[in-house]
Amino acid sequence: MEKDIFVLGIETSCDETAAAVVKNGREVLSNIIDTQIPIHEKYGGVVPEIASRNHIEAISRVTEYALKQANIKLEDIDVIAPTYGPGLVGALLVGVSYAKALSYAKNIPLVGVNHIEGHIAANYLTYSNLKPPFLCLLISGGNTALVHVKNYTEFEVLGKTRDDAIGEAFDKVARVVGLEYPGGPKVDKLAKEGEPNIKLPKTHFEDSLDFSFSGIKTAVINLNHNEKNINKADLCASFEKTITEILIETIKKGIEKTGIKDLAIAGGVSANSYIRNEILELKNEGLNIYMPDLKLCTDNAAMIASAGYYRFIKGEKSELDLNAMPGLKL
Ligand code: KG4
Repeated sequence: MEKDIFVLGIETSCDETAAAVVKNGREVLSNIIDTQIPIHEKYGGVVPEIASRNHIEAISRVTEYALKQANIKLEDIDVIAPTYGPGLVGALLVGVSYAKALSYAKNIPLVGVNHIEGHIAANYLTYSNLKPPFLCLLISGGNTALVHVKNYTEFEVLGKTRDDAIGEAFDKVARVVGLEYPGGPKVDKLAKEGEPNIKLPKTHFEDSLDFSFSGIKTAVINLNHNEKNINKADLCASFEKTITEILIETIKKGIEKTGIKDLAIAGGVSANSYIRNEILELKNEGLNIYMPDLKLCTDNAAMIASAGYYRFIKGEKSELDLNAMPGLKL
C-alpha cells in the first residue's frame, strides 16, 4: 500500500488567514479560517496594509490550530503548500515567507500553489470520485473564467472577463444599494425578497467565451442613482437573474465547443444560492454538475492543500526563492 501524503495548506492571498491539513489531496483533516471581514468592514473593502499586518498576527496561531485539529505533528507533514498568487502582494508574502521558514526549519518539501487552481481543487474535496477532464466556471472576487481542466495540473482558459470580475460586480452593486462589505452574500439574501422585474443589459461576444460585467454594473449604479424610489430587492433580484443568464449562455457555448458534459463551479460567487439553483437546472440538459460545499467556495486553505498535493505527486517542488506573484495567471 502506498504511503499517505499529508499536505499543510496555507492561504493568505486576501482577507482570510487560513491553514488546513489534507490527506492524499481529498480528505480534509482540518480547515481553519481566521477571517478579517469585521476588521475591513468599516472601510467598505479590504485595506491591503491592514490585511498584511493581521495575517502576521494570525498565521502561527492558525497553523498550530490546524495541526492540532488534524492531530498531526509538523514533523509528520509531507508537503507545505502556500498560495503564492494571485492576490495582494503584502498578504501573499506573509503566507509564502511563513511556509518557507517552516520548510527550511523542518526540511519539509515546499510547493507553491496558484490560488485559482486551489478554487478548482475545492471540487475534489467535495466529490471524491471527480477526475479531470471537466469544465469549470470560476466565479470569484478576483477572477471570472470558463476553464477546461485537462488534468490535475493543466488548464486552458476558454474565456475570461474583459473587465470586472463577477465578485467585484456583486460587491459594487451591494455598496450602491447600501449593503455592507462583503456585499455578495447580502445581495444573495436581499434578492430573495424581490422580483426580477427590471430589465438590465447583457453583453455578448460573438465567437468568444469571454465575459463582461461592467455594463450591467453601471446600469445598476445609474438606475439606483436616477430612480430614487427603486425597489432595492427587485434591483438585486434582477441583477442576479441577468448575470446568471450571462453565465449560463457562456457555459452552453463552452459545452457546445468542447463536447464536455461535466461542469464544476468554483470561487466565492459559487456560494450564491440563485446561481447554484440555475446551474443545477443544467442537469436537465444532460450535464453532470459539481459544486463545492459552501464552506469550500470562499477562500480556504484545504483547497490550496489539495491543489498542492497534485503538483507534488507530479514531482514538482518549489525552492526557497519562491516569491509572491500578485498577478499570477492560471
Ligand atoms: O473566492 P473568494 O472568497 O475570493 C477570491 O479568491 O476572489 O470570493 C470572494 C467574492 C466576494 O466578491 C464576495 O462578495 C463573493 O465572493 N461572494 C458571493 C457570495 N458569497 C461570497 N457573491 C454572491 N453571492 C454569495 N452568496
